[in-house]
Amino acid sequence: MRYDKHQATEEFTRWSKSYDRSILQKLLFGPSHRAIIGRIRGRFGSNRLNLLDIGCGTGVFAHRMREALPEARIWGIDLVSGMLEKGAERWAAHAGRVQPIQGDSERLPFAAGQFDVVTCSNSFHHYPHQDRAVAEMCRVLKPGGSLLLVDGYRDAPWGWFIYDVCVATVEGNVHHCSRKRLRELCQQAGFETVTQKIHRGAAPFLLTEAIAPASSPIPAPHLTGEHAGTSLLAKSA
Ligand SMILES: C[S@@+](CC[C@H](N)C(=O)[O-])C[C@H]1O[C@@H](n2cnc3c(N)ncnc32)[C@H](O)[C@@H]1O
Repeated sequence: MRYDKHQATEEFTRWSKSYDRSILQKLLFGPSHRAIIGRIRGRFGSNRLNLLDIGCGTGVFAHRMREALPEARIWGIDLVSGMLEKGAERWAAHAGRVQPIQGDSERLPFAAGQFDVVTCSNSFHHYPHQDRAVAEMCRVLKPGGSLLLVDGYRDAPWGWFIYDVCVATVEGNVHHCSRKRLRELCQQAGFETVTQKIHRGAAPFLLTEAIAPASSPIPAPHLTGEHAGTSLLAKSA
């Protein structure tokens, strides 16, 4: 049976209470965040950026980005309200510059072409329709904008054991993509350049960087009427 959003909601509602104290913060999430922030700074410097973090959880990553990129305006979206609520103090500390939103990676509540950067850290394996999520990531990026996606690297034996055996035993039938599959998903969604870097260590991860096409983005069929051609950023910021 495929992992579904109901399972994700149950898992993260339960986990939200202890999530910030998890050992994975040190082993996987912290190193992933640093790798993504390093790439953003490498490509964009400290420019003023509109940034969307998908699967933002309790806001630890948004908080780190805010400190590293003080000029950025950040939107964080997460399926599970319990995760967002657990980060209430963090969101409040950055009010006006960081905006949490409850929603689904497969139906992003934003008009096309809004963001310079879209990030997704260790959340992608929870998405039942990964092709839809990547298409949405591409759609909401400005022409030439960057997707930076990190997830567990499962192609080598150690990563396979951690993610496909241990994590799958705990979380259920989540899906960590192979490096090749993720590249294909990005290309199918219309991304122009895709580069990938493996970070080895106790919890190896893959950083995929994909550049949105230079042409105009396509509007989303699920956004109609007032949302279709307008900027949701102005409304929610
Ligand atoms: C392991 S946590 C990662 C949190 C954060 N990105 C980090 O690096 O610390 C995965 C997050 O993805 C969220 N998530 C799962 N399925 C989702 C979906 N379909 N759309 C948006 N968020 C989702 C979960 O609620 C959870 O907060």
